[in-house]
Amino acid sequence: MRFTDIGNIHPSIAGRRHTHKEHLQAKNDERRTNAAERGGSIHNKEGTVKKHTGSSALFSERVLKKFPLSSKLRDGTPVTIRPLGKRDESRLRKFLLTIPEEERLFIKQPISDPTMLKEWCRHPDYQHNLPLLMLRGNEVIGEATLHRRMGGWKRHIGLVTLLTHPRYRNRGVSKILVSELLEIARHSGLRRLEAELNGERDIALQILAQLGFSTLMHLEDYVLDMTAVPRDYVLLGINLKVNEEYAGGE
Ligand SMILES: CC(C)(COP(=O)(O)OP(=O)(O)OC[C@H]1O[C@@H](n2cnc3c(N)ncnc32)[C@H](O)[C@@H]1OP(=O)(O)O)[C@@H](O)C(=O)NCCC(=O)NCCS
Repeated sequence: MRFTDIGNIHPSIAGRRHTHKEHLQAKNDERRTNAAERGGSIHNKEGTVKKHTGSSALFSERVLKKFPLSSKLRDGTPVTIRPLGKRDESRLRKFLLTIPEEERLFIKQPISDPTMLKEWCRHPDYQHNLPLLMLRGNEVIGEATLHRRMGGWKRHIGLVTLLTHPRYRNRGVSKILVSELLEIARHSGLRRLEAELNGERDIALQILAQLGFSTLMHLEDYVLDMTAVPRDYVLLGINLKVNEEYAGGE
């Protein structure tokens, strides 16, 4: 898939410069989609007006247009960012095996479950879960996922999870991936993002705070880790700014 829409990319991770024409095209695409996400109208090339009732149908199509992205870690290491794909099963498994046992205790999903991994890769459901991978060559070095509920009273709130290969930590992997998810969420009709953490995840708490998340709730000894030890539960949240440029619609 070619990357054509770089209007949303954080300047520090944009892989190449875009032409003025591409920029205008991307802005127009985005305007149309934003109107759709507000339940507004879309004018297609023939001038027909289509009424859209929600954002979900356009989420993956538009978001995926941006990828793959080229970027660099703080130390100059070149990396690629793209969503998890059908052929990533063994790469993802290798990556997850690098995560130390003690850390797996804190991760909500049973990441060692091979059936779940297979399902994730073979039948990706970006409407509900958009896992962004960071790769160095063929190796997965980080992953951050935007989880989205398609109905109910939290349908406007996305949930973020993050995980970095132990050898690549403190080099900016998570910060880049979460910044990218924030951009995606802002342009996908979501109004807030949440992260649920165990209170001992100091570094994750620090990163998310640096990116603008604040503590919404901190409950002592509220959750049990996989060995049944009680841990604090921390709910972080961030309000996503509405892009005023598009607030007036078409
Ligand atoms: C938390 C985690 C995802 C961080 O990933 P990372 O790629 O190493 O993070 P980054 O390099 O982007 O670090 C961003 C910031 O965190 C801080 N940080 C990262 N690693 C640190 C370390 N070892 N010591 C102190 N600060 C650290 C730095 O302040 C850094 O900010 P800076 O860019 O201004 O220097 C990673 O440690 C991890 O996978 N932990 C296990 C899983 C987990 O806790 N997930 C969160 C639950 S959802």
